[in-house]
Amino acid sequence: TWSTVPAGPPDPILGVTEAFKADKDPRKINLGVGAYRDGQGKPYVLTSVQKAEALVDGSKPDKEYLPITGHAEFTKNAIKLAYGADSAPLKAGSIAATQSISGTGALRIGAAFLARHYPHAKVVYLPDPTWGNHIPIFRDSGFEVRKYAYYNPATIGLNFEGLKADLLTNAPEHSVVLLHACAHNPTGVDPTPEQWKEISDICKQRKLFPFFDMAYQGFASGSTSRDAFAVRHFVSEGHQIALCQSFAKNMGLYGERVGAFSLVTADPEEKARVDSQLKIIIRPMYSNPPAHGARIANTILSSPELYAEWETEVEGMAKRIIDMREKLYNVLTNDLKTPGEWGHIKSQIGMFSFTGLKKEQTVALAQKAHVYMTADGRISMAGLNSNNINYFAEAVSGAVKG
Ligand code: LMR
Repeated sequence: TWSTVPAGPPDPILGVTEAFKADKDPRKINLGVGAYRDGQGKPYVLTSVQKAEALVDGSKPDKEYLPITGHAEFTKNAIKLAYGADSAPLKAGSIAATQSISGTGALRIGAAFLARHYPHAKVVYLPDPTWGNHIPIFRDSGFEVRKYAYYNPATIGLNFEGLKADLLTNAPEHSVVLLHACAHNPTGVDPTPEQWKEISDICKQRKLFPFFDMAYQGFASGSTSRDAFAVRHFVSEGHQIALCQSFAKNMGLYGERVGAFSLVTADPEEKARVDSQLKIIIRPMYSNPPAHGARIANTILSSPELYAEWETEVEGMAKRIIDMREKLYNVLTNDLKTPGEWGHIKSQIGMFSFTGLKKEQTVALAQKAHVYMTADGRISMAGLNSNNINYFAEAVSGAVKG
């Protein structure tokens, strides 16, 4: 029956983990997937999460189904974290929201909702480059996927002129525009607040629909409110945005799959109609979401003490990454005199650095040095620590020097 099914390629990101696991060399390093590691290279379970989990377990919750849109209190607290307690549509009760299977699930619900209800052409503009999974999520949901200029390889920075030209002239009115709210994946290059303001104006002028993916709130600057700048600015300018949230990175709840999808609507009555349609989208997809992770996240978000502890831990993770950026830059340039300009390692933001390494170099690094990264030259900075950073820098320097 399945004789005509072609073999597919490994996933560009999760396939790197598979290759890493198959490698038996003790020096191996996995800088592929964006998952935080502590200073010893180990997965990190946040102390605030451990405490919240103990409280959840202690309350001996039942194992009943959650409602279709999930844990209502968690969702309320999640959107408060993103939009801010003062947000006008939040206070007005006009944000439709649902719990989701982390960020990917939020994106999929959002894309499916827009595919069914957005009253314009189903065309989405994604930044070039973007997180690899954005493309199939929107394509499989029935969207035509196009790109807008984002990254300039020559400056290893933002191609702001190209971005503006694409959104001002190339994207037809009412196109959906996907924006990484902070810590752009894979480049680590974010617009400045001033540039965000211009992007907001352009979206307004050209009637573009802003669809935010916020997978790293807290990871860019160490502050969850600073990282929400773009989202909050757009909303304060009156944009009725879509927003995808993930608690995988900032709470380290990767396997729990905790996230939220929300849409700003005109008023509570419109919100109620949108909520009803979100349920109709979700029910045949997976019926209702898992409870455990949402209970943990909600315990943190609703307890002032745990919340404060969590914010400190997020800041700590962001700081360790910034520290690794500094060290990697110093070893590559000062110690190893690696040819080229490496300042971007320090200036890029969030979990990733877009090194500028070519695909052939990434293949050679895996084969010869047992160092794994995605083929676009992206490294997860969180995979580096004081035990492996010198080995990594020497391998990169060797690859660059040829
Ligand atoms: C990544 O980009 O590495 C993360 O967002 C994990 C994933 O699911 O791809």
